[in-house]
Amino acid sequence: MAKINQNYLKLQGSYLFSMIARKIREYEDGHPNARILRLGIGDVTQPIAPEIIRALHQAVDEMGQKETFRGYAPDLGYPFLREEIARQDYQARGCRISPEEIFISDGAKCDCGNIQEIFGLENKIAVCDPVYPVYVDSNVMAGRTGEYDPAAGKYQGVIYMPCTAENGFVPDLPKETPDLIYLCFPNNPTGAVMTRQALQQWVDYAVRNDAVILYDAAYEAYIQDPFIPHSIYECDGAERCAIEIRSFSKTAGFTGLRLGFTVIPKELETSGERLWPLWARRHGTKYNGAAYPVQRAGAAVYTPEGRRQVAAQIAYYMENARIIREGLKSSGYEVSGGVNAPYIWMKTPDERNSWEFFDELLERANVVGTPGSGFGPHGEHYFRLSAFGNRETTQEAVERIRSL
Ligand code: MLT
Repeated sequence: MAKINQNYLKLQGSYLFSMIARKIREYEDGHPNARILRLGIGDVTQPIAPEIIRALHQAVDEMGQKETFRGYAPDLGYPFLREEIARQDYQARGCRISPEEIFISDGAKCDCGNIQEIFGLENKIAVCDPVYPVYVDSNVMAGRTGEYDPAAGKYQGVIYMPCTAENGFVPDLPKETPDLIYLCFPNNPTGAVMTRQALQQWVDYAVRNDAVILYDAAYEAYIQDPFIPHSIYECDGAERCAIEIRSFSKTAGFTGLRLGFTVIPKELETSGERLWPLWARRHGTKYNGAAYPVQRAGAAVYTPEGRRQVAAQIAYYMENARIIREGLKSSGYEVSGGVNAPYIWMKTPDERNSWEFFDELLERANVVGTPGSGFGPHGEHYFRLSAFGNRETTQEAVERIRSL
């Protein structure tokens, strides 16, 4: 008889954003005329920039010609894209990252979920609390955690690092030493950022303890402050302890196209083994590369015109972030984030439970956000709003929340 992976039975309910989508559907079934404003999932709303669309069309046309048709993409990505990433995202910022150290994929979510496969099950993971649910759930599925403890709202065997207003939503070094440390900055969900000195402390800690940092930098394009690092490799020694994951979704509107990449420095070793060949082996076995037209579209992001157009989109979303942040602040809400990140983290009024506040906002204002407790126990009494809506939706949603 076929047996299932029992670890899946430890998972709590459905994936956070699927649960929210279900709640919206149920509400809409009962209120067919409701005009719901969505600031929940961080999905982009602006059309892909013209320069990127031009490259996409051209690549599609190439696929229809005998002379320029392409079959399987190289497993690790086309050199034309890996070279631009290495040069513009890393070398231009003083990071010693070469094109061969970049693995192109069909998105950061897959990489965040899959990267744990190259590590042993005995590794202890540390995550921020609150946290993007994929890090924990993928480790639960793999069997690297114990059971879920409903009283604590945590999985046993995981080190949760509280991110609170007191520590500026930046975790303190944990008391118990982890083997794998997930960090995401600019942070999803709190919108907090880490200074170079703070990040350097984490790198030094990881080097000292032979731990590996899995650094999710999906939102780096939203950093406005020139002193905030965009990459962990801006810190000394990070090539010896860190893997970095990045996305084109939030940078260039690729949530529907799918493209991302992971950086594994060749010198990164743990337990005497280099990690680069393991991830390369996994790619070779389980993946056939991101589509050629999509990789060409990704390369267009790095052209002068592509960069300009993408920067304008980011500025558009950051203006939304400002509208949300200022609008709520001026009505007395306690808010943070939204300055170097597209997420605004607000305290629920009167210590309201996050899901209660979600329901209230949906029913009374027809506005959707994301309950903070969905990201972990320290997210309770918080609520996340996304700046990825269009301007009109964002302005109206803020007005509706203010008039509650
Ligand atoms: C979010 O809303 O947290 C993100 O859109 C989820 C994701 O990027 O997968």
